[in-house]
Amino acid sequence: MKKPSTNVQFTPYEISMCLHDVHRTRLWKQAIEDLVRPGDIVVDAGAGTGILSMFAAKDGAARVHAIELHPRFVALIEHMAELNEVSDKVQVHHADASRLELSEPIDLLICELLCTGQFFEPEVQVVNHLRQYLAPGGRILPSKVESFVQLLDAQKDLYGVRIDTDSRSDLLAGDEPVSTRARYDVIDFGRPVEPARVDATVELRARKTRVADAVVITSRAWLTEDLVTERTRFLYNPEVIYLKREVQLEEGRTYRVHIAYDYGCDTLDVELDVTPV
Ligand SMILES: C[S@@+](CC[C@H](N)C(=O)[O-])C[C@H]1O[C@@H](n2cnc3c(N)ncnc32)[C@H](O)[C@@H]1O
Repeated sequence: MKKPSTNVQFTPYEISMCLHDVHRTRLWKQAIEDLVRPGDIVVDAGAGTGILSMFAAKDGAARVHAIELHPRFVALIEHMAELNEVSDKVQVHHADASRLELSEPIDLLICELLCTGQFFEPEVQVVNHLRQYLAPGGRILPSKVESFVQLLDAQKDLYGVRIDTDSRSDLLAGDEPVSTRARYDVIDFGRPVEPARVDATVELRARKTRVADAVVITSRAWLTEDLVTERTRFLYNPEVIYLKREVQLEEGRTYRVHIAYDYGCDTLDVELDVTPV
């Protein structure tokens, strides 16, 4: 298996999509308002534009460590802090959040490196590393992530052209779910996530006598106990991953799906097997 594609810097386009995904950003604002206590030391790991750092600073945090890999966003976070008159509270680190050493204990760790299935981004690696700095009673946002798998008869033609694609980050009108859906992964950030890898087998029942040539992966995250995020405009798009060999399903029959990958990897590196029970 290839190395995980962790520590992926976002482009200005992607970071703008995050910031302007109002549904997503409002949910995180609400969660931060619910979790930050006056005087807290907060870390915003993978801070991007710094929007979550601004929320924490304005909500009474004593200090916010905003950690970001991309130099362009580091300057942007500093400017945002000035504009919002919280420069005295926001300390920006141009660093890899999965390695940076902190000089003080933290009360709240915020990490929005979420991606469906926890592909592409190093959420798990970053939280695993930074959790060592949590003060007693320290909190992590998000607290839990779940992922689901379902068999798909995927649309193969687009614009009149046969598409050769290994995976894609959206469902198309002609994609037909052909099985039940099952939860294959739960990440509980209340404890270290070791190993940083999924290796799960679930059983799905065919809903149709059809070919399955792909799976669709979906996820949701608990930001607080009662604040859950599923798909928004930019977050948690369904990931369609094609099977190496298509499977002819029989309606009502059960199929075993084995799915294995390192968190943060590319969807192309996912091991998938579908076998009849
Ligand atoms: C999904 S964006 C979220 C940005 C921001 N937290 C928000 O909610 O709008 C993830 C950000 O993390 C940064 N990033 C990715 N890997 C990182 C790492 N290992 N250390 C620090 N930043 C990282 C990316 O460059 C990107 O800006």
